[in-house]
Amino acid sequence: MFPEQGYTYEEYKETADWLLANTQHRPLIAIICGSGLGGLAEILKDQKVFSYSDIPNFPQSTVHGHAGRLVFGNLNGKSCVCMQGRFHLYEGYPIWKVTFPIRIFQLLGVETVIVTNAAGGLSEDYKVGDVMLIKDHINMPGFAGNNPLVGPNDERFGVRFPCMSDAYDRGLRKLAKTVARELGFSDFLKEGVYCVLGGPSFETIAECRMLRKLGADAVGMSTVHEVLVARHCGMRVFGLSLITNKAVMDYDSESKANHEEVLQTGRERASHLERMISSLIERLEHNNNVC
Ligand code: HPA
Repeated sequence: MFPEQGYTYEEYKETADWLLANTQHRPLIAIICGSGLGGLAEILKDQKVFSYSDIPNFPQSTVHGHAGRLVFGNLNGKSCVCMQGRFHLYEGYPIWKVTFPIRIFQLLGVETVIVTNAAGGLSEDYKVGDVMLIKDHINMPGFAGNNPLVGPNDERFGVRFPCMSDAYDRGLRKLAKTVARELGFSDFLKEGVYCVLGGPSFETIAECRMLRKLGADAVGMSTVHEVLVARHCGMRVFGLSLITNKAVMDYDSESKANHEEVLQTGRERASHLERMISSLIERLEHNNNVC
């Protein structure tokens, strides 16, 4: 039903080697910027920027609010690579294209992936502008067999049946809570379960009610596919959802989800998110301690 894995190991290698040959940066941290959160990349120092269209084998980004650039640079003295614009199922990409950059990061030597997204809040406790640490996910497309790890397994990346019960690193979540407390951000920091759907249509009221009953705190159209591939190839994951709108749960409600609201909330909270991620990165430790 779904196409087989579309890239060979050699193609992943070709892209990673091309990047390594074209930048001096050797990042241990990758950051994926969600809708309206591309400004995170702007705070990197000593930047080396590549348009996706210039990188061999790289897919192109088509969404308004996603720039389509890979930005290498230093944040608090640590070498990072930042995706300004990610790929989504709703753009029509097969799932293995959506997650292509993740294996590139692994081949570049990245050890920690920070994923961010814009999401609709399902939990009654959530307000617009809250930031949710992702502690777990529900992979709806995966229930129907659309998982980026479907197809022949390449053992050079990871095992056939990777564990996902520890997908979102507990130590990093603990550190993020400490950092948020120190920055005075505890009021809007939440922790919960992110549910991915295929999109691009926003959810119906009945769908939102169902997702809430299933244990989801926030809903979106990204992130989970990338996390599956990152965990498969042994990278640590830290995830944040910015609650850009409240999912509509009530038939009497007049509110409607829309992409402009998503981008506007992203702009309003961007500086807080930047400070939090920057402080988190400052405190990150890696195996070889040279970040
Ligand atoms: N639903 C799905 N995806 C989203 C939403 C939403 O309400 N808000 C931002 N991304």
